[in-house]
Amino acid sequence: MSVTQLSFAEPFFSIDYAENEKSCYVTQKSMVINLAEHEQENILLPGDRVILPLKAAVVQDITLRNLRRAFIIRDFERCDLSDPENAAAIRRTWKTLYEMSGLERHRGLPYYKSPKFCIGEGKRRIELNLCYVDEGMVPSGPHRDHDRNFDEVHAQILGYGMMRIYDYEDNTHIHQELNMAPGTVHDKMYDAEGKYPWHEYKSVTPCVYCPIELDR
Ligand SMILES: [Fe+2]
Repeated sequence: MSVTQLSFAEPFFSIDYAENEKSCYVTQKSMVINLAEHEQENILLPGDRVILPLKAAVVQDITLRNLRRAFIIRDFERCDLSDPENAAAIRRTWKTLYEMSGLERHRGLPYYKSPKFCIGEGKRRIELNLCYVDEGMVPSGPHRDHDRNFDEVHAQILGYGMMRIYDYEDNTHIHQELNMAPGTVHDKMYDAEGKYPWHEYKSVTPCVYCPIELDR
């Protein structure tokens, strides 16, 4: 049973990590991401409402119960993306997606990544970070494979974005656009074997999202 203050996204975001907590009171408007996976691991809200595993919600003045493992991003709107000085500070502090991945398809993209934070070990270890996109309507590049074998979803924190799913690599045949506003985690797109369709994140406005990677 613990609540730990995390520093990986500071000074832009104050994130608490709650593990096996019976209850937790949230005063300020905050985003809660349920990082648990199983049906019995719903986060319980007043009035028989729940935050399902691998889903999120924006809450305020509320008691959360049954936190198996969860992120609480306190006062997440404090990070004002419309403030040019704040945006410049994020660009200075976080590495570009290209610096992090080394992939040619990421060169020049206005995507910036915070350091990573890891939860647990071995199977179902989770890696997370935050990603800031400095411009709207910028796709991150379609892909089907990742650098490790993990289950991947994305939580939208600020601004708007989408997960695009394609029939083919040429990215002209779009199956689905899963639109995301703050508090949305898109539905899973991997199958039981961990196979993915071609997919990519695309910003709609300047935004911040949280890639969540669970080792298989
Ligand atoms: Fe991906």
